[in-house]
Amino acid sequence: MTKNVKLNFMKTVLGIETSCDDTSLAILRQKNDEIPVILSFHSFSSELILRKWGGVVPEIAARNHMEKIIPLLKEVFIEAKINPIELDQIAVTTFPGLLGPLLTGISVAKTISWMWQKPILPVNHLLAHLEAIHLTSSVSYPYVGLLISGGHSLFLLMHSSTKHEILGTTLDDAAGEAFDKGGKILGLGYPAGKQIDDLAKSGDENKYRFPIGLKDSKDANLSYSGLKTSLRFMVEKNPELLLTENLPDVCASYQKAIIDALELKLGFALKKLSQKNLPLVVGGGVACNSQVRARFSKKFPGTLFVAPKFCTDNGAMIANYGLRTFDKTIPFPLCLEVDARGKYASVEELKHV
Ligand code: KG4
Ligand code: ZN
Repeated sequence: MTKNVKLNFMKTVLGIETSCDDTSLAILRQKNDEIPVILSFHSFSSELILRKWGGVVPEIAARNHMEKIIPLLKEVFIEAKINPIELDQIAVTTFPGLLGPLLTGISVAKTISWMWQKPILPVNHLLAHLEAIHLTSSVSYPYVGLLISGGHSLFLLMHSSTKHEILGTTLDDAAGEAFDKGGKILGLGYPAGKQIDDLAKSGDENKYRFPIGLKDSKDANLSYSGLKTSLRFMVEKNPELLLTENLPDVCASYQKAIIDALELKLGFALKKLSQKNLPLVVGGGVACNSQVRARFSKKFPGTLFVAPKFCTDNGAMIANYGLRTFDKTIPFPLCLEVDARGKYASVEELKHV
């Protein structure tokens, strides 16, 4: 008589994220295909330090990663109450990002890989942002992914964790950059996305008109550089717009233009697809925006998926991506040759992003 025995396969992964200004580490454990459990998760953001310079200075961000990463590493193991021997692999962001910051994380990953003889999984940061949705929801493939962060704006059709098609991208500034650069013009701190979002809540979004880049191109490509320039000209001509009482209206109108462009271009991206009503996953820091979520949930009721807790850069999404691509890991010691552009990562996939 054969018994139907279900084997419990447990995977434990450390995730390391240092591609920009967040040093973030997490240890995740997954049983079979269940939603992973976050055993520990600690981050340090250099935002306040970088605010003095009005944006990310790669060298300063890298120095902060160097200072914070070892204390954070200790913390995640203490909180997870596990011994490094229990790890299965080390997932680390290798691409894309700022070279100095990336190298800090990769160097630490290589060192501990050597110490503990654990394989490294090079992680594509952009795909990790979208796939973070699986930390909170069960979303089936294919899904449409909208990645809106400080460095990227991408419309993707995700066939699996590693297979995707690009439906559109930005030709100049990313959506987050449009928020941050607009914020700089308005005299707000860095990064400005959250501040514009907050100020816009009490403003009139129809008070001022801003252009939508590539409005008539009928494709899913975005352009935000004209929007930023038009804000600069408007403020130069009307300096009173910078007065505290006027900022909410300016922020609301400027934010509306950013989101209008996303909505318009998402429409074109969806038109290209033969399958309709696919799940829509929105990820990256700009997905934290209250209006992005309000507008998209109204337009895509029941099919919109956002994981607000994991939208901005974080180590949990890196560990999660490691779990989802577990078999793509590079065996030790070959993994020690991984370079800052993820030489051993799924090269096919990196070619396209
Ligand atoms: O994903 P992320 O943490 O880093 C990158 O991979 O770039 O995204 C950071 C971006 C910044 O541009 C920041 O201004 C923006 O996300 N952001 C927001 C909000 N919160 C963060 N943008 C609009 N509204 C928000 N609430
Ligand atoms: Zn990111």
